[in-house]
Amino acid sequence: MTPSVEALPPGLVTLADHEAHARTRLDDNAWAYFSGAAGDEITLRANRHAWDRLALLPRVLQPLAGFHTRVELLGRALAHPLLVAPMAWQRMAHADGEIAMAHAAAAQGAGLVLSTQASQPLEAVSQAFAAYPEAGPLWFQLYLQADRGFTRQLVQRVEAAGYQALVLTVDAPVQGARDRERRAGFRLPPGISAVNLEGTSPAASLLDTAPTWSDVQWLLGITRLPVLLKGVMHPDDARQAAALGVAGLIVSNHGGRTLDTAVSTAWALPRVADATGGSLPLLVDGGIRRGTDVLKALALGARAVLVGRPCLWGLANAGAVGAAHVLRLLRDEYEIAQALCGCVAPVDITGAIVIANATDSHL
Ligand code: FNR
Ligand code: LAC
Repeated sequence: MTPSVEALPPGLVTLADHEAHARTRLDDNAWAYFSGAAGDEITLRANRHAWDRLALLPRVLQPLAGFHTRVELLGRALAHPLLVAPMAWQRMAHADGEIAMAHAAAAQGAGLVLSTQASQPLEAVSQAFAAYPEAGPLWFQLYLQADRGFTRQLVQRVEAAGYQALVLTVDAPVQGARDRERRAGFRLPPGISAVNLEGTSPAASLLDTAPTWSDVQWLLGITRLPVLLKGVMHPDDARQAAALGVAGLIVSNHGGRTLDTAVSTAWALPRVADATGGSLPLLVDGGIRRGTDVLKALALGARAVLVGRPCLWGLANAGAVGAAHVLRLLRDEYEIAQALCGCVAPVDITGAIVIANATDSHL
């Protein structure tokens, strides 16, 4: 399937512009699902606010010849430190769904993490992505299914389709209390489903089959792919994961969609970095909306960031073209921020360029 090529609506120059425009394109049902979070949405706001409250302390007159934004992730080069976060049911944002998102990410040299709950076949997504020589990493986000036999078959499909890593999401053994969705009476529109899960039976009790550390070990034993854990916030969990031999961690609170009042990811990231001491790559997501947010994430110890909702807004606004535009805006902003802080490459970014807990005299 080739996604439609749509014109970009005029006047969209920031991710916030994309959000405002997407509100006019999506119905209340989809909007509640995509933009909402758990409970009072305190964590949703905290993620955003925490990046804003980090002040930058730039260096000047640094040599910038040979400037680039490349990073290395699991042995693969990424043109700039951006990946699209795994997000379920993207056909609710646009008929072209995950396939359009794959074209957008690959064309922009960004990585892509496909959700277990994707609304299009995982093989078609990897085929679309692989067509671009400059494409970044392609990973598959895994929710362990109650039926572990089914999970094993799914992992085999993912391996056969050419995905390069598994991202095991560990922060959602149950669905968060999504008040906004309940108020909107959210339901999946007809014709949209988690197509890659066809044939599995839902768990009788989610908690009885919720994954534990021993399931992580089981997963490491049944796949040849590197496994990252997504949703690690506590330094002790990070230490335990590193000891088990996972390939990386994604510091995430699921964009505030699971446990409300969970701490912001910008707060957790440097603590997880301290706990793991550079022994494995860290990524982070939640509220990344500006190039300066990406820079701050790298300064606090992340190798790269994942971007969630803004990619869906772009998709809703103009299909593949819209999602690509969102990534383009963010990468251009990031490039400017890195240069203005005097860093010739992402590896030169250190904690010395950020002031945590900025007070009114800083910002
Ligand atoms: C998500 N997220 C998510 N995470 C995951 O591991 N598997 C999934 O299927 C989904 N589905 C999903 C749907 C929607 C609509 C959203 C908004 C989010 C969480 C996602 O990967 C990521 O952690 C956050 O979205 C990052 O925060 P921002 O960038 O949206 O603020
Ligand atoms: C969500 C699930 C699918 O956040 O992870 O909606």
